[in-house]
Amino acid sequence: MLNESRVSQLVRTGSENYLRNAVLKDEARGGVCASAPLRIGILEISPPVFQAPMAGYTNFAFRELIRSFGGVGLVCTEMVHARGLLEQVDRGRGVPERLWGIPQEPRPLAVQLWDSDSGALASAAKWLIEKLNVSLIDLNFGCPSRQVTLRSGGGAILLREPRRIEQMVRRVVEACRPTPVSAKIRLGWNRQQITAPEVAQACEAGGAAAVTVHGRTADQGMGGRADWSRIAAIRRSVRNIVLIGNGDLLTAFDAVAALEKYPVDAVMIGRAALTRPWIFRQIGALLSGQALEPDPPASKQREILLQYFQKLLQVMELGSALVTMQRATCRFVLGRPGARAFRLAVSLARSVEELVEIIETQFPKDE
Ligand SMILES: Cc1cc2nc3c(=O)[nH]c(=O)nc-3n(C[C@H](O)[C@H](O)[C@H](O)COP(=O)(O)O)c2cc1C
Repeated sequence: MLNESRVSQLVRTGSENYLRNAVLKDEARGGVCASAPLRIGILEISPPVFQAPMAGYTNFAFRELIRSFGGVGLVCTEMVHARGLLEQVDRGRGVPERLWGIPQEPRPLAVQLWDSDSGALASAAKWLIEKLNVSLIDLNFGCPSRQVTLRSGGGAILLREPRRIEQMVRRVVEACRPTPVSAKIRLGWNRQQITAPEVAQACEAGGAAAVTVHGRTADQGMGGRADWSRIAAIRRSVRNIVLIGNGDLLTAFDAVAALEKYPVDAVMIGRAALTRPWIFRQIGALLSGQALEPDPPASKQREILLQYFQKLLQVMELGSALVTMQRATCRFVLGRPGARAFRLAVSLARSVEELVEIIETQFPKDE
């Protein structure tokens, strides 16, 4: 049993009263982890903590790393263009690079698709289920990039048309049954057009099993703060659908507090996992009433980075592996002392050897 002093010890940061209450309340009802797994259609997910899809980052090696720490309920690929996937398959070129590793990857696994064409989304989703046996198809209605929205009519621009989203979801759900389909949305296209409640309703009406809401509008990009009160308000619009909250959960404490404070069924973690991939393990520990594990020492962090790099080099051509690793390393050190100079050095590295040397200097073997 947890007692007051244990809770105080858990909540080392001191100021988070709400979390202190959360841990006590959670303990009283047996812990979030101890409760029944979350059901998303035919899937059972536990714990209710998801890894966010992130283009350029959440490749197979990253997902494997996240899984190796434990504490993550569901991992997801980067977003994949449905028509691009179908064209590549038709030409006999196999799956896009973004989907490498999937055949041998443990399940459950979600693949995220984007497109403006419901037929393409449905066909690509069906192909992924039949050929690659993926566990869940997530539809992207939240990407704010110009390329995806204004040039291609996909992602977040569709938030202006809830009825169209409903039709798209329905078509994909019909093609995928019994594999569940979810949607990832933002609050709306801009602050004058907050459509998330209608869009979430449309997703439910179309047969989606879950909806993830990133608490920003598309025009905010990644600026400002995620508005969790608006995420919470969506609970009133949807009845039987799983609601997943996302945005600005930067620490394990943030994630546990969000699960406790807001009427969401699960939380999704994005950028924090790029900087501290062990965050899911920390969240898992807190959810089951254990103390927060400290971040691994520098020598372990060095090992994590180098093993990740090795994995990339096994499957990617040298140039792509180097660029992917530079990007991942720069994110990994964000917010740490000396990060600016380190990131500059990393981005200037021109060879594998150079990059490894920079990493080894920043993360010494013995502290
Ligand atoms: C580099 C980067 C790439 C992203 N790529 C995707 C993507 O492919 N699909 C998607 O739905 N969201 C994408 N997102 C948004 C994240 O999934 C998530 O919604 C957002 O980062 C907010 O969560 P966070 O505050 O935990 O990072 C991306 C975000 C970042 C920072």
